[in-house]
Amino acid sequence: MYFTGAELSNFRNYEHETIDFHRKVNVILGKNAQGKTNLLEALYMTSFGKSFRHARDTDMIRIGTKYAGIKAGFVRDSLEMTVEIGLIRGGKSIRVDGVNLKKTSQLLNTIHIVLFSPDDLRIVKDEPAKRRRFIDRELCQVSAVYYSELSGYQRALQQRNAVLRSERPDSGILDIWDLELAKYGASVTARRDAFIRGLSEVSAEIHRDLTDGREQLRTVYSPSVPLTGSPSEQREQLLEVFRENRQNDLERRTTGRGPHRDDLSMYIDDLEVRKFGSQGQQRTAALSLKLAEISMIRRETGDEPVLLLDDVLSELDQTRQRQLMSSFSDIQIFLTSTEMDREMSRKIPDHTVFYVENGTVSPGKY
Ligand SMILES: Nc1ncnc2c1ncn2[C@@H]1O[C@H](COP(=O)(O)OP(=O)(O)OP(=O)(O)O)[C@@H](O)[C@H]1O
Ligand SMILES: [Mg+2]
Repeated sequence: MYFTGAELSNFRNYEHETIDFHRKVNVILGKNAQGKTNLLEALYMTSFGKSFRHARDTDMIRIGTKYAGIKAGFVRDSLEMTVEIGLIRGGKSIRVDGVNLKKTSQLLNTIHIVLFSPDDLRIVKDEPAKRRRFIDRELCQVSAVYYSELSGYQRALQQRNAVLRSERPDSGILDIWDLELAKYGASVTARRDAFIRGLSEVSAEIHRDLTDGREQLRTVYSPSVPLTGSPSEQREQLLEVFRENRQNDLERRTTGRGPHRDDLSMYIDDLEVRKFGSQGQQRTAALSLKLAEISMIRRETGDEPVLLLDDVLSELDQTRQRQLMSSFSDIQIFLTSTEMDREMSRKIPDHTVFYVENGTVSPGKY
């Protein structure tokens, strides 16, 4: 899929802007704090229905106004469509081709986006929560079932923790939440396992290319509770763990083990990258993982995702920049940067440059 254009109204520092996009590469240039990331955030909103910056919906409404709107045109399977997001304080509306969606989750799987920011380059050595978020974001984008199972798990976890924190935790109620957690948790674990196996295969292949065949990358799922056997056996095993840990959980007043503590580990030639990899290796592994994400979306949905690169080019050395750009092929790309030299601009295929200044966007030549 690709975006044809967007209209932003009172979104972040944009008052009212209409922009037509290039089918291939859109280079967004501007000084700091002018609105480059805000523009990517608006596109991201049309895919995920929420921001990637841990922002609340209302934070995105331009200060001093009451309503923010994003309208984007896109083409998917040769069909032209529109998506509209409306934000008011305390509410959000989402429409696809003029039809109101009841839930944000209905938006997933409509527009596929892969976002790559400097943060992602640190994914290998950051805390496990970052890697869990990465897995969840990707899986939710390709599987509505996963989204609902994960939501079910998170809801049950919140409830169980609330009981654990209460004055006199009721063991009958805890039994109920244990069952819910085991039911959703076992499915979440199984889906993560399958997804990471696929991701590992694809990222290994990419990593081999990036390192001219010198390094073998392995991406391994490290579940908090490893499960084996049939789905019902897995559910039983997880339930058993919640029961066994109950006393401990009561003392700590929180659920200690379960899929909310899962992690992902990466190995280069059998050494864990997080612990033993050089900085360059960690970055290359992250890049392999990110590029694999594009292939995974293609594989799972049959759709080409749009790639958003927020400030990453300047973080990569020449070689990796070239490797990243050579993998662009046919997908639409939005990349932001504070500066772009002529040499770099020559390396980027067919593109349009947009200059962003204080919330206004003007297309220009480079
Ligand atoms: N709700 C809002 N209303 C008005 N302005 C906002 C709002 N939210 C953020 N901004 C402004 O948007 C600007 C930041 O925009 P953005 O993050 O897109 O910058 P950028 O061009 O990506 O800069 P950098 O190069 O530093 O990453 C800030 O000046 C901030 O004050
Ligand atoms: Mg920015």
